[in-house]
Amino acid sequence: MENCLSFLFFFTLILLFSQKSIADDRIKQHQSINDTQLIVSAAQIFELGFFNEPKASNLRYLGIWYKGIPDVVVWVANRDNPILNSSATLTFNGDGNLVLINQSGFHFWSSNSTRSIQNPIAQLLDTGNLVLRDSNSGSENYEWQSFDYPSDTLLPGMKVGWDSKTGLNRKLTSWRSPNNPSSGEFSFSINTDGLPQFLVSKRNKTLYRGWPWYDHDFGQGYGNGFDYNLVFNTSMEISFSYNYSATSRTRIVMDSSGSINRYVWSDVGEEWRNEFTFNGAGCNDYDLCGDFGICDAVVTSTCGCLDGFKPISTQNFSNGCVRKDQNICKVGDGFKRISNVKWPDSTGELVKMKLGVQDCRGECLKNCSCLAYGTVGIPKIGSVCVNWFHKLIDVRYVPDVGSGDDLFIRVAASELKSAQSDDGKRNVAESDDEKRNVAVVVAVPIVSVIIFLALVVGGCFLIRRRANGNDEVVIAVVEPPIQENKLEMPIGVVEAATENFSFSNKIGEGGFGPVYKGKLPSGQEIAVKKLAERSGQGLQEFKNEVIFISQLQHRNLVKLLGYCIHQEEILLIYEYLPNKSLDCFLFDDQRRSILKWPKRIDIIIGIARGLLYLHQDSRLRIIHRDLKAANILLDSEMKPKISDFGMARIFGEDQTETKTRRVVGTYGYMPPEYAIDGFFSVKSDVFSFGVVVLEIVSGRKNKGFFHPEHQLNLLGHAWKLWKEGRALEFIDIMLEDEYDKHEALRYINIGLLCVQSRPEERPTMSTVFSMLENEKMQLILPQRPGFYEERFIVSDIHSSSSDHHASSINNVTVTLLQGR
Ligand SMILES: *[C@@H]1O[C@H](CO)[C@@H](O)[C@H](O)[C@H]1NC(C)=O
Ligand SMILES: *[C@@H]1O[C@H](CO)[C@@H](O)[C@H](O)[C@H]1NC(C)=O
Ligand SMILES: *[C@@H]1O[C@H](CO)[C@@H](O)[C@H](O)[C@H]1NC(C)=O
Ligand SMILES: *[C@@H]1O[C@H](CO)[C@@H](O)[C@H](O)[C@H]1NC(C)=O
Ligand SMILES: *[C@@H]1O[C@H](CO)[C@@H](O)[C@H](O)[C@H]1NC(C)=O
Ligand SMILES: *[C@@H]1O[C@H](CO)[C@@H](O)[C@H](O)[C@H]1NC(C)=O
Ligand SMILES: *[C@@H]1O[C@H](CO)[C@@H](O)[C@H](O)[C@H]1NC(C)=O
Ligand SMILES: *[C@@H]1O[C@H](CO)[C@@H](O)[C@H](O)[C@H]1NC(C)=O
Ligand SMILES: *[C@@H]1O[C@H](CO)[C@@H](O)[C@H](O)[C@H]1NC(C)=O
Repeated sequence: MENCLSFLFFFTLILLFSQKSIADDRIKQHQSINDTQLIVSAAQIFELGFFNEPKASNLRYLGIWYKGIPDVVVWVANRDNPILNSSATLTFNGDGNLVLINQSGFHFWSSNSTRSIQNPIAQLLDTGNLVLRDSNSGSENYEWQSFDYPSDTLLPGMKVGWDSKTGLNRKLTSWRSPNNPSSGEFSFSINTDGLPQFLVSKRNKTLYRGWPWYDHDFGQGYGNGFDYNLVFNTSMEISFSYNYSATSRTRIVMDSSGSINRYVWSDVGEEWRNEFTFNGAGCNDYDLCGDFGICDAVVTSTCGCLDGFKPISTQNFSNGCVRKDQNICKVGDGFKRISNVKWPDSTGELVKMKLGVQDCRGECLKNCSCLAYGTVGIPKIGSVCVNWFHKLIDVRYVPDVGSGDDLFIRVAASELKSAQSDDGKRNVAESDDEKRNVAVVVAVPIVSVIIFLALVVGGCFLIRRRANGNDEVVIAVVEPPIQENKLEMPIGVVEAATENFSFSNKIGEGGFGPVYKGKLPSGQEIAVKKLAERSGQGLQEFKNEVIFISQLQHRNLVKLLGYCIHQEEILLIYEYLPNKSLDCFLFDDQRRSILKWPKRIDIIIGIARGLLYLHQDSRLRIIHRDLKAANILLDSEMKPKISDFGMARIFGEDQTETKTRRVVGTYGYMPPEYAIDGFFSVKSDVFSFGVVVLEIVSGRKNKGFFHPEHQLNLLGHAWKLWKEGRALEFIDIMLEDEYDKHEALRYINIGLLCVQSRPEERPTMSTVFSMLENEKMQLILPQRPGFYEERFIVSDIHSSSSDHHASSINNVTVTLLQGR
């Protein structure tokens, strides 16, 4: 991980070769280039020449790289056939193909156009494509092109996939290691039988698979300028390619460790930024749960069964599932919908173009061996129907609600009973929602009984509010001997309240784990957070932490009501707030209009109050470490409440030290000293607070911020406008003119002060609070913000000290393990 960080932040590439170019973008007949020469594309973007790898060796390769960035080789000709010294030349052979030979005539590589070319010319295009054509024929008429033989890099305009004209199925193959270009074990391809999906394989074994549709992959979250093109014509071509309008320098790389990355070059920082990473961790691990299984990244990666199926082995859920009721293809069987999933692998399954969901179901019903169906909309093609006949493997729930697809699974009549409507005739259940409702009705009385018993037996749960009459009654009844027991809630109560942590009760997924909504028999609504892991801490210490945290009481903090320890799991029970989190409003074009200027001021001040309380007014000094819009919940009056405070303590982090091995936080909100070096202090929270202030004022997200004119992130954008005296342009246009200009400028000023790169320059929360409250207080001018250039910061690396942590494709908390 340290490599990754240093790569991200310190990778500068200013090594220049002392090679001479032949001052042209092409090699003509009877010309050649030797080891010290190179050719440069017309607009000086790419170079073709020889390089050594490893740097200290004599092994020479012919390759293509961006001019000025020789360390990043995007294509290698003789990757499996290195030249042992600098004796080789690139020239044409008798039939007009390019050959790489040495004086004794040894062939290291050749282009292999099958036709012989009369007047060959090889040209390096500005796209990075080396093309071979006949100089007398049309300029687009390539006899051979390097784009058809990718190495580990997919450049814009290059294609992976199959083409009937050449018969090639292009794929990326990783380098053997970061300094060995020979063909490595990992490849990146798209399947051509079934619905196209990305597949990453190690040798011939699939390691992980992309979503069935590309919006979910590289395009994800980066709508600005990223454009992909899928050709899906089973008789002509099945391919994927992409474009990125914002910069010419971007590349997708299958790296030698098995993850797929997209990088973008930043001229400002002179570095490659990792914009997207995907690997096989957690539920992305191919076929983790076996046939008919489904993976859910709840605690770690948990395998379950699709509806209507049960595990083959209750010891090991990874072995897959079998039907509960084998009566398939009998009267009354039908389909159950599961929503928001990544579809099963469709390799080799039946795909029908331009078929709507009704017809797709009709197709599946026709044949008893059809296991499931689903449809997906593909741009330029329309609705495409898939019928699965062989197996349903590699299904997972998608962490971002709404970004998965629906899958309809064939089940026996008995599995559908509860979903039948009154007329009793429906044999196809569109959805199992109705079933859920039924379950609730039945469950409530049972739950009440359990909780009643729990109360009588003294199995004591909670509610620490002493001020309100109702709650006091509860406390009087329970009266537990030890204080900590007041907070401990039996697992049965939590399970009942959340309907056994049903998926329908899941309201979110934070970096620390999923969150479920629940309702206690008293009617109180709760939010239950399942902690994903607990590190290096004994149970007693943990309980002490919870007690401490639960004693923090402030109107701008979400109340911790209790906890529950069940086997390896730890559950924290909070008050439930109906209005979701700030980000749901702030980054939603419709809802944002509710947030008028005075409301935004209230929210900023409320957050500042809560943070100030944590930093200095509470008995304990608490550093939040993961303050972000998503962690600010809003109550029914839209008053902000900070959630997840004290999580770092509960997780057993070093409480007094100022340095940690484990960086917990969210990119975009983490200050540089923390993200890079693991130093944290109250000033880390001040930085995050500043980011939130700037987001509230502008109505835009720091992470993924895009501006057509520059490469800066939101902080850099604010800073730039501020320096140029155009700070008012930074303010959310949705506010129109309904805000106080003077006040708004003050808020931007304060926000910028909080995000300054050096922690000692940032104000403390108490100063911030004074500045916010006291209009007359003179403000100092901000210095350059930290991380102001990073428009894109890795958003999807999600590793932690437990390796099986799900790598989720959303913007959840990032946990990095610093190798020091
Ligand atoms: C390559 O060609 C150039 C120009 O013809 C020549 O000056 C140079 O010595 C050659 N280098 C080698 C290694 O042959
Ligand atoms: C490369 O090595 C071969 C044999 O090892 C030798 O004959 C040749 O002169 C060398 N060429 C150069 C340019 O060093
Ligand atoms: C040409 O390459 C081959 C294979 O690496 C090597 O055996 C031979 O010595 C080389 N010849 C020269 C003249 O470099
Ligand atoms: C052309 O060369 C590539 C390796 O560069 C090889 O994979 C491919 O099979 C060759 N095609 C033909 C038609 O010889
Ligand atoms: C993968 O390759 C190995 C060894 O080459 C072979 O034994 C195995 O059958 C292959 N598996 C598949 C699925 O092709
Ligand atoms: C595939 O391409 C062929 C030839 O261009 C065309 O005739 C056919 O309609 C295409 N099929 C689809 C499904 O687009
Ligand atoms: C990429 O951009 C070029 C020029 O703007 C356009 O012609 C091409 O269709 C685009 N390709 C993709 C895959 O978007
Ligand atoms: C569970 O089964 C999977 C696949 O059969 C196997 O790889 C794994 O080791 C098993 N785990 C346990 C704990 O037995
Ligand atoms: C049903 O589908 C299977 C698998 O595709 C096929 O072998 C079988 O012939 C089909 N049966 C009918 C009745 O179409």
